[in-house]
Amino acid sequence: MRRKKKVTLKTLAEELGISASVVSRVLSGQASKYRISKDTEKAVLKAARKHDYSPNHLARSLRLQKTATIGLVIPDISNPFFSDIARHIVTVAWKRDYSVILCDSEENTEMEKKSLDLLQNRQVEGLIISPVGQTGDHLARLHREGLPLVVVDRYFSDIDLPCVSSDNYQGAYDATRHLLEYGHRSIALVQGIPDSGTNIARVLGYKAALKEYSVPFRRRLVVGDDFGEQSGYAATKLLLKQKDRPTAVFLASNLIALGALRAFAEEGTNIPGDISVVSFDDQHYSPYLATPMTTIAQRKDEMGRIAVELLFAQIEQQSRYPAETVLLPTELIPRQSVCDLRKENRSKTGGSKKTAL
Ligand code: RIB
Repeated sequence: MRRKKKVTLKTLAEELGISASVVSRVLSGQASKYRISKDTEKAVLKAARKHDYSPNHLARSLRLQKTATIGLVIPDISNPFFSDIARHIVTVAWKRDYSVILCDSEENTEMEKKSLDLLQNRQVEGLIISPVGQTGDHLARLHREGLPLVVVDRYFSDIDLPCVSSDNYQGAYDATRHLLEYGHRSIALVQGIPDSGTNIARVLGYKAALKEYSVPFRRRLVVGDDFGEQSGYAATKLLLKQKDRPTAVFLASNLIALGALRAFAEEGTNIPGDISVVSFDDQHYSPYLATPMTTIAQRKDEMGRIAVELLFAQIEQQSRYPAETVLLPTELIPRQSVCDLRKENRSKTGGSKKTAL
């Protein structure tokens, strides 16, 4: 005799073409709390009856009105930027007696989807995510269906979701202007994921500073396509092979900078003697590098704290859909990886000693 396939929250959701969290909320009697339409509520209950939905799961849903748990999905747990953000989020959530289920989407949309499904099945009360894909439609749908949700760091300018990030435009503008102020006119950019919200803003900030100093934008000086170390390494190698080498480079993230440092070391390139460097993302090790790195620091603690606050504003229904975007200021931290070409530009006769700044 063929065993009847066990019906789960997920299969009900797939049959109805809605998210598992909506099914769970209807079955746990929370349809009105999450403003789920009467039609959806009826369809879910009808499907649950049709499949004689497992009462123990239903009982569990009814019992667990609140799980005191939130979900957190980050692109790479081994990346100090994201692990720092995660630590701040966990600290603030615990102060509210909430635990956090942390998922690593491994910079991969398939893993991100699996993480979202798992977190919904665990009935998290809300979700903070730094998304990895090129579109946030799936997140906007979850939010519309009533799942409290906040996007942190990477965002989608075309999707209306509560978000907290850095003012990446200003940070990139400040980094590039710092190099321009010290006489650099051939400044490369090693960028991250081209279509991600953070990278788009950083490229625009870089271009704006060049324009302000009437320095033409040269496409050949923008390399790279990912925020990771390997992309930073390969892109920097490409830059160093260019006949007309740039005098400075703006590295668009912490891991890109690590990859670039490996390339500089392999090529015997001196910082700042041969090339000046500014990197996005100050790290605890930035001051202790062979040449202490000039960086753009993000306020990771504030970002984590505000992400949790935006989420609880939704969970506690204080503001139904606070689709506000909070952009935190960044901070330029000058160290010794930028040389002052102004003196060299002035004294064209013989090389002046390049002084680091
Ligand atoms: O590697 C982390 C980088 O990617 C950071 O700059 C952060 O903003 C993310 O976008």
